[in-house]
Amino acid sequence: MSHHYLHFERVSYRYPNGYEALHDVTFHITHGEKTALVGMNGAGKSTLLLHLAGLLLPTSGEAIVGGIRLTPRTLATIRRAVGLVFQNPDNQLFMPTVEEDVAFGPANMQLTPEEIERRVTEALAAVGALHLRRQAPYHLSGGQKRSVAIATVLAMEPSVLLLDEPTSNLDPRARRQTIDLLRGFDHTMLLATHDMEMVLDLCPRTIVLHDGRIAADDATAVIFRDSALLDACGLEAPCSVRSIRKEESIE
Ligand SMILES: Nc1ncnc2c1ncn2[C@@H]1O[C@H](COP(=O)(O)OP(=O)(O)O)[C@@H](O)[C@H]1O
Ligand SMILES: [Mg+2]
Repeated sequence: MSHHYLHFERVSYRYPNGYEALHDVTFHITHGEKTALVGMNGAGKSTLLLHLAGLLLPTSGEAIVGGIRLTPRTLATIRRAVGLVFQNPDNQLFMPTVEEDVAFGPANMQLTPEEIERRVTEALAAVGALHLRRQAPYHLSGGQKRSVAIATVLAMEPSVLLLDEPTSNLDPRARRQTIDLLRGFDHTMLLATHDMEMVLDLCPRTIVLHDGRIAADDATAVIFRDSALLDACGLEAPCSVRSIRKEESIE
């Protein structure tokens, strides 16, 4: 098996209406890497994550997850290995209680009741939400919903975590808690986000998507110092990097 855990080789994807959301995208992500996926709205970030989660198939090119090529026959296997946390937790939580939501995936895997209980408890404990287990998801705060949505994915014990804008719509405290939580995970992780401070904090590597193409793929520090690239892709370096650049230009 390749040491590249996530592997896209010249992937293009056209939505049924004919819009090409990904064009000739190639990248390799190694086991254990934490990588950021950045780009303006509409750049293709969510479309790319949906491929890696086994929810879309490339129109052309190859996507390989954990050594398994994405085809109609392997979709189910890949969905079990990969956990996708959706941008909006309301799309992930639909049961009457938190614990039923977290148990939903494991129950579909025909696990024993003891194993399901172990996974629910461990996943909720991992996100600091054990005390919420009997609550109704729709009564939770935005930050609590995000934590529980992450727990529903952890309960599947995936080997790779994909997160679509995990800090969007969170207040500063919930945002900080989510970042601290993600820092503690040792999964292979791909984070689609506009939160550049989080990228700087968590991801040594950044892939920049622009109009469905890879505009850059490099060390995060290198990407954030390339103001021409960021401008061309409609992005801004985090405040902390901008202030360092300003000091350098004054000296
Ligand atoms: N179901 C769909 N049908 C047609 N076009 C879509 C669909 N979903 C997304 N798109 C288009 O594909 C492009 C990429 O979208 P998306 O992957 O959601 O970008 P991002 O997550 O970077 O904002 C956008 O132009 C979007 O309008
Ligand atoms: Mg998106």
